[in-house]
Amino acid sequence: MVTLKQKWNPDIELECLVVGVHFPGFMLKGAVSALDDELNGKITELLRSNDISPKKKSITVIPTFGQVKTKRILFVGLGKEKTVAEEDWKEGLAKAFRKVKEMRLSSVAVDLESLSGQLDPERAASLLGEVYMESLYTLQTYKRKPNKPIVHIEKMYLYSEYDSVKIQKSIDKGFVYGKSTNYARTLVNMPPNLLTAPVLADYAQKLGDTYGMEVEILDKTQMEELGMGALLAVNQGSTEPPAMIVLKYQGKDEWKDVIALVGKGVTYDTGGYSLKPRDGLIGMKGDMGGAAAVLGAMQIIGEMKPAQNVVAVIASTDNMISAAAFKPDDVITSLSGKTIEVLNTDAEGRLALADAVTYSKQHGADYIVDIATLTGGVVVALGKEMTGAFTNNEQLLKQVQAASLMTGEPMWQLPITKKDRERVKNSLMADLNNSPGREGHAIMGAAFVGEFTEGTPWVHLDIAGTSMTKQPNEQQTYGATGVMVKTLAQLVLDFVPFS
Ligand code: BES
Ligand code: ZN
Ligand code: ZN
Repeated sequence: MVTLKQKWNPDIELECLVVGVHFPGFMLKGAVSALDDELNGKITELLRSNDISPKKKSITVIPTFGQVKTKRILFVGLGKEKTVAEEDWKEGLAKAFRKVKEMRLSSVAVDLESLSGQLDPERAASLLGEVYMESLYTLQTYKRKPNKPIVHIEKMYLYSEYDSVKIQKSIDKGFVYGKSTNYARTLVNMPPNLLTAPVLADYAQKLGDTYGMEVEILDKTQMEELGMGALLAVNQGSTEPPAMIVLKYQGKDEWKDVIALVGKGVTYDTGGYSLKPRDGLIGMKGDMGGAAAVLGAMQIIGEMKPAQNVVAVIASTDNMISAAAFKPDDVITSLSGKTIEVLNTDAEGRLALADAVTYSKQHGADYIVDIATLTGGVVVALGKEMTGAFTNNEQLLKQVQAASLMTGEPMWQLPITKKDRERVKNSLMADLNNSPGREGHAIMGAAFVGEFTEGTPWVHLDIAGTSMTKQPNEQQTYGATGVMVKTLAQLVLDFVPFS
């Protein structure tokens, strides 16, 4: 899809060339400086008169009136070259791609040299690939008449004098990261009547088949035989069967140093008998955001083929009400054997995760990272920008944090104290209770899941605040963000086993 070019060729017909400009903006390099010569210095003039602005995220499109083979030039302002933050850089670029899309252009050329500035060219190429994919994400709608026909950029040229093998590799990595983030977004945005647990299992099966991964999908009967009482309790009120989904990626000769990625796949959360208020229901189709992140990461892993062993485990069901549904005061037995007093049927995610964590251990997990839209509490604590991170092992958390810094998906650690662990064990009736009250309830969710790790190094990521957004930007449409797809994959790619 992308053609690399090392030297500018004025004879190629181009619909648009995308160029970066930094302050002070008069030092034109590469393709655009050649074009400026062809246009008798007109571009420099426009820069001097400030008609083309290097201000952050400003976009200027100039037509070339048939004087050169490039029909128009799109300038992205990137601010000061030395201080440009990656986040701003990505947003500027996303804005440019959106503009190209708005103009309905089917081919575009990008001048990497002018854009990358002080950024390492490989890093720039990889971010560019990512931004390109993510900014062109289109929401799958169900309107009989789509608003506008979807236009794809069919051809992209990338101009860079840097080592083309390395640039190609980097941009391909960026494409895969972006594509997989979009894949997770699509799953999360799907309506809950269409994305049920069995349908989610079908998606996982397809993904596994595409990359030659071993796939195991447990149905209700198999779960009953194994004793997955926690996940089954959540499913009890539903007419849709649950699914326990396992994908195995083996990148080492032996099945050792296994990283488990465990996702909450609640396809709709009504809260059950502890029913959510009517406004709280809207958006609960996204309660499988953790599962989507895991599947997105598995897609990246399938494409990049790291020398690591990974088992993905997704516990999927909806959380409904009926005469058969589980209810507060029920006592249930999880796969681990631990019994749980249900105090709140809306704290269902931790129940589903409990069995998934235990099942991942049965598949040989040596390290566990679980990811879930687990609590409203994390949104209160950290807002909508930061994913909450919890751990029983600082060494594993450090690796997850390093991955998060690489991918620009921020997270912030919250503690789990001994007292917190005591609170989830405080029950007259059972080994654990699933809802010890509202104080620090993001921590309670984490502490509960942690009980099932039984000492295996573990990180819990609560994405209730970050998985969906109502504030779209250039890179991000309204709805699902696909958050943590890249971070989970990066963790696996860079993972260093420890004991
Ligand atoms: N799925 C919700 C958490 C959630 C809230 C996700 C907002 C996305 C946005 C979870 O199952 C839930 O309902 N948690 C309860 C826990 C409580 C009952 C202890 C909550 O956060 O209120
Ligand atoms: Zn809930
Ligand atoms: Zn939930």
